[in-house]
Amino acid sequence: MAASSCCTLLLLLLVVVVSATWGAEARRNVITHVKGFQGRLPFHLETGYVEVDEPHPHAAAQLFYYFIQSERSPADDPLILWITGGPGCSALSGLLFEIGPLKFDVAGYTEGFPQLFYFQDSWTKVSNVIFLDAPVGTGFSYARDEQGYNVSLTQTGRQLVVFLTKWLADHPEFASNPLYIGGDSYSGYTVPVTALQIANDDDARARLNLKGYLVGNAGTDNKYDTGGKVPFMHGMGLISDEMYEAARSSCRGDYVSTPTNAECANALQAINMATFAVNPVHILEPICGFALREPSSSSSWRRAMPEQQQKMVEQRLGLPVECRDNGYRLSYLWADDPEVRATLGIHEGSIASWSRCTALPLFRHDVESAIPYHAELTQRGYRALVYNGDHDLDMTFVGTQQWIRTLGYDVVTAWRPWYSNRQVAGFTTVYDHNLTFATVKGAGHTAPEYRPKECLDMLDRWTSPGGEL
Ligand SMILES: *[C@@H]1O[C@H](CO)[C@@H](O)[C@H](O)[C@H]1NC(C)=O
Ligand SMILES: *[C@@H]1O[C@H](CO)[C@@H](O)[C@H](O)[C@H]1NC(C)=O
Repeated sequence: MAASSCCTLLLLLLVVVVSATWGAEARRNVITHVKGFQGRLPFHLETGYVEVDEPHPHAAAQLFYYFIQSERSPADDPLILWITGGPGCSALSGLLFEIGPLKFDVAGYTEGFPQLFYFQDSWTKVSNVIFLDAPVGTGFSYARDEQGYNVSLTQTGRQLVVFLTKWLADHPEFASNPLYIGGDSYSGYTVPVTALQIANDDDARARLNLKGYLVGNAGTDNKYDTGGKVPFMHGMGLISDEMYEAARSSCRGDYVSTPTNAECANALQAINMATFAVNPVHILEPICGFALREPSSSSSWRRAMPEQQQKMVEQRLGLPVECRDNGYRLSYLWADDPEVRATLGIHEGSIASWSRCTALPLFRHDVESAIPYHAELTQRGYRALVYNGDHDLDMTFVGTQQWIRTLGYDVVTAWRPWYSNRQVAGFTTVYDHNLTFATVKGAGHTAPEYRPKECLDMLDRWTSPGGEL
């Protein structure tokens, strides 16, 4: 008995010493195998946290990331910091559903633990991507107390600059790769705000090799984001010529402010009645409700939803296979599994149940328009790619072109098709100051989710010397 407990103690001591040494050196949690994936991962995946103690030194943000190295040439390919939109949509959502090399086997799923397979049209084929859970409160990123979640968009931008400098100090082998910041949807704000903070900070600018940024179906300015919808719906055949004319003449082109006359109010009402059941993130796809948890659990989204709508959504939970939401639901099973969490190195007790997209009640949106950020960044020589899935009603290519025109830049290359797999993949216009606009034909709100091969070609060409799509 005595001998055995002595040896157990020694063994324990040994384990403690070994893990303490690891802890010091291996902030890099390199992952070769993950539950749900058969065999060894065919790419380099690493996860970890970076602590950022601004603006709340006593409730520092623990920002969680997944890093996947380029499969082509990690030393030469660009380094991309990718922020999923929302705000509050997880990095894992970007990795599993948008631009990463893993996907769930949704079609083959019947029950039990979801299976993952390797997906080859990933942006990590040609670039090193850091998928970051941001703002704090998103995905697995957390703070020790509530004040830590009280951050504005501007403060989040600052946190991302600190994140990048710390991450690169820890990964000096990537310090000279061309750095880009990118994201879709709400990241239309987060990305240029972060990029401009780098540009304005001498120390960060010296440490970070920032070349430019890319935004997709980007939230930019409500005037154009909302203002683009009516002409989009008309062009796409969702409303009649008569409805469009009625709105245009009575609202005088302003579809954003509260209508000041009854004709405008009625015209917009008629448009709403005609289109409310169209899937806003891809007008050709079925509308399947939100990717909710099982009806028994409660998420903040569900509580916020009117009862009638909640009922409709619950009725849709037996989803047909063609609904993308099915894959979203599998992500909950995967991310809340204890073995998966241990592999990812998620801190015990930090996040109760993971959300693909969560509400951030303390987050403050303090930037009304991203347009001045685009103007300043492009005039200071940073490259910009602004792309739109052209079947998205949420952030339309019409609104995007309207705000780009307000910059007053000359057209360098006029509207022309761009190609992928010898087919027209979309259309592009290049403006002065290295601003490239592109549509992705047939894609929805998160373009790479719908047209992965085409978007991979777009990224690779835009980041290559020459930079033409
Ligand atoms: C969040 O921070 C702002 C600015 O410091 C402050 O005005 C506000 O009261 C805080 N909100 C909460 C809920 O603590
Ligand atoms: C566009 O980008 C290229 C490559 O980074 C650079 O050489 C050129 O000066 C930029 N042009 C403008 C107008 O900023």
